[in-house]
Amino acid sequence: MIKGLIEKRALPSLLTMNDGTPAASEAQWRTRRRELIDLLSDQVYGYTPAAPDHVDCRQLSCEENSFANKAVSEKLELTFDTPKGPFSFPFDLILPKSANPAPLFIAIAFRPNIPDRYLPMEEIIDSGYGVATFYYNDVTTDNGEETGLMLNYPRDAKTGWGKIGMWAFAASRIMDYVLTRDDIDHSRVAVIGHSRLGKTALWCGAQDERFSMVISNDSGCSGAAITRDKAGEDVKAITNRFPYWFCGNYQTWAEREHEMPFEQHMLLALTAPRHLYVCSAEEDQWADPVSEFLSSAAASPAWDVLGKTGLVTPDHLPAVGDSLHEGTVGYHLRSGSHFLSRIDWLNYIAYRNRHNI
Ligand code: GCU
Repeated sequence: MIKGLIEKRALPSLLTMNDGTPAASEAQWRTRRRELIDLLSDQVYGYTPAAPDHVDCRQLSCEENSFANKAVSEKLELTFDTPKGPFSFPFDLILPKSANPAPLFIAIAFRPNIPDRYLPMEEIIDSGYGVATFYYNDVTTDNGEETGLMLNYPRDAKTGWGKIGMWAFAASRIMDYVLTRDDIDHSRVAVIGHSRLGKTALWCGAQDERFSMVISNDSGCSGAAITRDKAGEDVKAITNRFPYWFCGNYQTWAEREHEMPFEQHMLLALTAPRHLYVCSAEEDQWADPVSEFLSSAAASPAWDVLGKTGLVTPDHLPAVGDSLHEGTVGYHLRSGSHFLSRIDWLNYIAYRNRHNI
């Protein structure tokens, strides 16, 4: 049944390389992977500039006894070189007090608050996980203005990076810093975001293979969901309201979804062979849970090529409350509306515990 629903969407081939041969081995997938990053850069998110050689980090403050003395909370400022001089932004690092290096979530955030309604800090700390989080507007503001990091790089109008790319780049710079800390488990770092920041987390983890897990919470259009025949938001709607999230080329696909040489299952597949988790909310028809679920299933053949199992699902659409945690691709469908809830976090933590990632 799921196969039939995917076939109806008439997706462009995930595993057929540009020269027409199928990507059937790990080496061929490496080539295909580069082709897909190039395609999504060129047509959707814009090209990401080269990473800086290194990042510097300065501690602004430190609370040794935070969250009932269960955690240490630091405020830090990250600085790196760009073509137009150094760029800095602040972030927070909250680590549970533990004898072992902590697994981490790098959370791309709508607000600088800790805790926040999207960041149930105590539940996370009590589960043994740490959080590094930054407020996305500190990198570049979520509007059409040229601000922050955007001013530091030259940018082509058609293929230059949009703001999703800039926020994703910032998460990778935090990862640069994380790798210098011996109180964090470098092999267990997940990137997470909700909605527009779920799109950002997916694009970040697609490009940056140092993340062992990528989490998309209700990311919808231009995120996890298949665009062809999706309910709710489409390319026209999203590029009318938020053209600056993408490269200039993306808006040329408005009302031409069926001609697009790319699709969002390609974005999801770029996480392979690492762990991917997609979550949908029942009432979030603007994002379209069915299109998010089908996309996760349609991406899964990339894991097969690499000797892993992607999404493990019975052959029907998930019911509200279902959590599919067996495969290297995880999925759950939560009741309620567009939100990053405690239930979502507890699912991510359960999945990470189960797979030890
Ligand atoms: C709008 C937008 C979505 C986006 C969402 C959000 O609804 O249309 O694409 O995901 O905002 O970020 O909350």
